[in-house]
Amino acid sequence: MDLIFQLEKLKEEALALISTAQSEKELEDLRVKFLGRKGEITMILRQIGKLSAEKKPIVGAKANEVRDWLETLIEDRLLRFKRSSFEEKLKSELVDITLPGRIPRRGRKHLITQTIEEIVDIFLSLGYWVAEGPEVETDYHNFTALNMPPHHPARSLWDTLYLKSPGEDLLLRTHTSPVQIRVMQKEKPPIFIVVPGKVYRRDVADSSHLPVFHQIEGLAVDEGITFADLKGTLEFFSQRMFGADKRVRFRPSYFPFTEPSAEVDVSCFCEGEGCRVCKGSGWLEILGAGMVDPNVFDEVGYNNEEYTGFAFGMGVERIAMLKYGVSDIRLFFDNDLRFLEQF
Ligand code: PHE
Repeated sequence: MDLIFQLEKLKEEALALISTAQSEKELEDLRVKFLGRKGEITMILRQIGKLSAEKKPIVGAKANEVRDWLETLIEDRLLRFKRSSFEEKLKSELVDITLPGRIPRRGRKHLITQTIEEIVDIFLSLGYWVAEGPEVETDYHNFTALNMPPHHPARSLWDTLYLKSPGEDLLLRTHTSPVQIRVMQKEKPPIFIVVPGKVYRRDVADSSHLPVFHQIEGLAVDEGITFADLKGTLEFFSQRMFGADKRVRFRPSYFPFTEPSAEVDVSCFCEGEGCRVCKGSGWLEILGAGMVDPNVFDEVGYNNEEYTGFAFGMGVERIAMLKYGVSDIRLFFDNDLRFLEQF
């Protein structure tokens, strides 16, 4: 068969195959089929040598032209495949940056923790520092050293939870006052501390009582500390905590470890009008306080001629209830987010 004619047929066949090829692999196979070492064009080129001198350049030129044309055609198709698979890749990896992200739930501090921090911060600003003590306490620290020897009637002021403990009399501390003893037995005056912590009493839970609650104790010991310092300190605290317009009132009271002792009230938010919170009195009881009893100083080895001091103890839940208008103490322990999220 005439080689020119063969070349024309080959061109037609190649065009049909190449333009319908579906993949890069198919195109590579076609390149081998036509242009490879044993490919169809190569076969034709090999036969050119046998042709006559005048046919040789004509067929040769034609064969080269078809080969170049085929090469460009295949290259061109390959490029198109490469480009479209790149575009597909882009499409499949597309990220919708307008999609809103998942918002993490943000927690917060419990109102009791917040209140402890508020109270402690006020005393830190006065130069106090924070001390802590154990919740499982000895009878000695909780009572005896605080001027309540065994069988002292004042022990019954607290409904104590005792622990079975052969050898040593252990209990769950009924107040944070034992930390006064622990600190004074370790340190020399001046002492200016606040002591936040949990305390335990054998109480039945109701709207104002829980068997576990929080207290903050305060203790100031130095030369020349007077009752006026106690009043000034508690007035400063009350005004920072409840509002600059607040007044404080001291009522005589009794604690075995302070003498004299007082119960301290802050003027109510109703401004003396009388409301449900203060039960019409215009005053809210916030803490117990007094001048440290000389017997306590004797117990820890302080010279009570040289040093005087005051102490106070407040219930954190009670303070938070008054400040934030919470009517039931059990709400603090129910862990209902609808309540907790308000603060
Ligand atoms: N510890 C006493 C209580 O829990 C409060 C208090 C502390 C009173 C310090 C006076 C001085 O009732």
